Amino acid sequence: MRTETPPTIRLEEYRPSDHLIDSVDLDVRLAPRETRITAVFALRPNPAGEPGAPLVLDGDDLTLLALDLDGQTLPPDAYAASSFGLTLHRPPQRPFTLRIETQVDPTANTKLMGLYRSNGVYCTQCEADGFRRITYFLDRPDVMSVYTTRIEADRGEAPVLLGNGNPIETGEAGHGRHYAVWHDPHPKPAYLFALVGGRLDTVATRFTTMEGRAVEVAVSVEPGKGSRAGYALDAVIRSMRWDEAVFGRAYDLDVFNVVAVSDFNMGAMENKGLNIFNDKYVLASPETATDQDYANIETIIAHEYFHNWSGNRVTCRDWFQLCLKEGLTVFRDQEFSSDMRSRAVHRIGEVRTLRARQFPEDAGPLAHPVRPRAYAEINNFYTATVYEKGAEIVRMLRTLLGEAAFRTGMDRYYADNDGRAATVEDFLDAFARASGRDLTAFAQWYERPGTPRIAVEGRYDAAERTYALNFRQSLPGGGPPLVIPCALGLVGSSGTLAGAVCPQVRDGVFVLETASAAITFAEVPEAPVPSLFRGFSAPVRTEMSLSDAERLALLRHDADPFNRWQSAQSIGMRILVERAGARAPESDDAGPAAQDFAGALAAFLDTEALADPAFAALVLGLPGEGDVANEIGAEIDPDAIHRARQTLRRHLGRALASRLSGLRGDLADVPGAPFSPDAAAAGRRALRNAALDLIAAADPVVGADLARAQLDGATNMTDRLAALGVLSLIPGEAREAALAAFGERYADEPLVLDKWFAIQAAIPEEDTLERIARLRQHPAFSMTNPNRVRALIGSFGLTNPTQFARTDGAGFALLAETVEMLDRSNPQIAAKLLTTFGSWRMLEPARSSKAGEILARIRAIPGLSRDVADIAARTFAG
Ligand code: TRP
Ligand code: ZN
Repeated sequence: MRTETPPTIRLEEYRPSDHLIDSVDLDVRLAPRETRITAVFALRPNPAGEPGAPLVLDGDDLTLLALDLDGQTLPPDAYAASSFGLTLHRPPQRPFTLRIETQVDPTANTKLMGLYRSNGVYCTQCEADGFRRITYFLDRPDVMSVYTTRIEADRGEAPVLLGNGNPIETGEAGHGRHYAVWHDPHPKPAYLFALVGGRLDTVATRFTTMEGRAVEVAVSVEPGKGSRAGYALDAVIRSMRWDEAVFGRAYDLDVFNVVAVSDFNMGAMENKGLNIFNDKYVLASPETATDQDYANIETIIAHEYFHNWSGNRVTCRDWFQLCLKEGLTVFRDQEFSSDMRSRAVHRIGEVRTLRARQFPEDAGPLAHPVRPRAYAEINNFYTATVYEKGAEIVRMLRTLLGEAAFRTGMDRYYADNDGRAATVEDFLDAFARASGRDLTAFAQWYERPGTPRIAVEGRYDAAERTYALNFRQSLPGGGPPLVIPCALGLVGSSGTLAGAVCPQVRDGVFVLETASAAITFAEVPEAPVPSLFRGFSAPVRTEMSLSDAERLALLRHDADPFNRWQSAQSIGMRILVERAGARAPESDDAGPAAQDFAGALAAFLDTEALADPAFAALVLGLPGEGDVANEIGAEIDPDAIHRARQTLRRHLGRALASRLSGLRGDLADVPGAPFSPDAAAAGRRALRNAALDLIAAADPVVGADLARAQLDGATNMTDRLAALGVLSLIPGEAREAALAAFGERYADEPLVLDKWFAIQAAIPEEDTLERIARLRQHPAFSMTNPNRVRALIGSFGLTNPTQFARTDGAGFALLAETVEMLDRSNPQIAAKLLTTFGSWRMLEPARSSKAGEILARIRAIPGLSRDVADIAARTFAG
């Protein structure tokens, strides 16, 4: 056990490694409890390092079996070894070879970092610092090596053996064992190392790259699940084609493997040539996967594949640069998914995620810059800020430079940094040189935490036919202004006022670079409504006092679909915030604003719902309870928000009832038609189910009947789960019977049971805690499987605000107990769960004091992992 408190690592203290490792030869003999790894490293002093420095190799939970240098056993005083590191006091000042034998226990590895077993399948996870749990190493991303890996295992236990790069040899090893040798010609950091050994079913196909390389593409899954791997395989092929067409990037090995495992800490991992996935993001069939699952698979398959260039060919110098690969790769997967589906619908989804996850993070105690300056535990920085806000920065860069210069900049970035471990400065430099622009001020986006607020005022001068807009930006932490691209236009009584001109607006974008700025449009024939931050062109909060009538004009006429959706959201939000702030009781009278809103939605549905059902479903969706809480920002009462939302949903459901049931009929499936997971079919299901949800909010009796019928007749998981979700909110026998039947039907489908766990954890009722306690005893539940824990406990914290933040503290206590229990087995997951406390100080005093007590109790637990101790300390302090 380590006892000393771990040091904080700081960006400004970065120094190159004193040594380099040019090649790594591994011989891994897989066995359930005693896996032996022989590693041979070609080392040399780094010319950029300090001459004569000791060689300090990282280790974590290793047993050292043997060690020699250039074939010689080292005398005991030449080195110091523990399970957490290996130091050579006086390494040679010339190239030399180090041979290290270690032993690990993959079966006992519950952290799911390093080499572990998932349902009997051997697999690895090395990012960020898991390779040191396999052998001693310079485990930092700027040390890049060429790897050759021999994997040996019992043939019965592990007939499939996969590694990075290309397969070069296979053979018998005696005693029922066999081996495979893999060679990866591309130098890489240790975090991209991977191997897999197990019984797996494989589906495969061929892809020929634009450079003429024939690639064997394969997806391997648990035996018997091969029929659910086809969608993922197709998504790989579409990703390969897209990166060639859009970014000119081709794949660079002869094989590309994707493997799905059921125990995995995050979504997936981009190991070179061997992506390893959480099976939730690979397996899909109409019977088990929702439309959201299909969309997630498509996006995450693309994300990991795209890392081959943005992450692997060009990697990160150090972990402070994490956004260099993650923000950029999220941007790339967003663009891919937008091209595969509806761009507008996808953009709205991206922004909803950003607002639901990143905005609260940026407003709470865990706020940090997209490029953090210090960390105690890097695994706690795989955050919405690094990923999602990081992607928004790349998007703003494209908006500022324009499509063509952006693409030239990307090409330059790849050309200049291929095979290197790069920094954010290298990234921006490529764009500065490609465009001739000075990006120094823009670079501040990487450094400043917090969501900027942009206050805007508009004034129309009828005599002069001018419209003036005043912008003022303010950052939570103060400081110099940011460079903020605002895509905008003016909307009149019958659409965008195309004739209005403004010298500061180029290609529809005004760039706000100063603390405040005023711009004036000329040739404005009527009082306009401004459509600001079209497409959500910057990750900011906009404050402008528009009337509901003006917002409805945008919903009706704006050319920008994002702002059409936004205007409906803003009206809904204003009504909800007002009711919640007044602590209004749940009632049948939602007020006059809600009546006008319902009228506008009715008109919208009549003219547009059938033309774009996916978009219409989004317009009908009110801001979530979490969104309303974030908007209120202080003294939050989750019960008041819940009541406000119930009232408005009921009102809309009643006002729109006949239209909603009409739409359900119009959008019904043709009987016997085959299932398609594509965007158009998914959009029809989305609107049908949004309609069902509102109908049930207005009339639970009718809603329950419709939901039960849908549950019985459904031919796919999207419709079945939507019906179950509606029923889950209507207390009574019908709900309990439906839940029980669903649980039995999918008793052998863990990924489907996760949906069932999550639906029940979200029920906003007093006895949900008892329900969760019962479900924890369910045979399919397991504290060691991250998907199960996230489904039952994680989603409770994220989707059930009234019960999580109960005034008696019992909801907080449930999360805290789970964190404490998990901290011993899987600290990464424990720490992630604890982040649900992030907004505790914004709660009204009775609740926040309970949360504070419980956080203090967690902090006092002796022997906490670094992961949990770090989150607890920052959450409590903030
Ligand atoms: N780099 C992975 C991605 O594509 C995520 C990742 C980082 C990860 N660390 C991990 C996955 C640990 C699993 C476990 O975003
Ligand atoms: Zn990633």
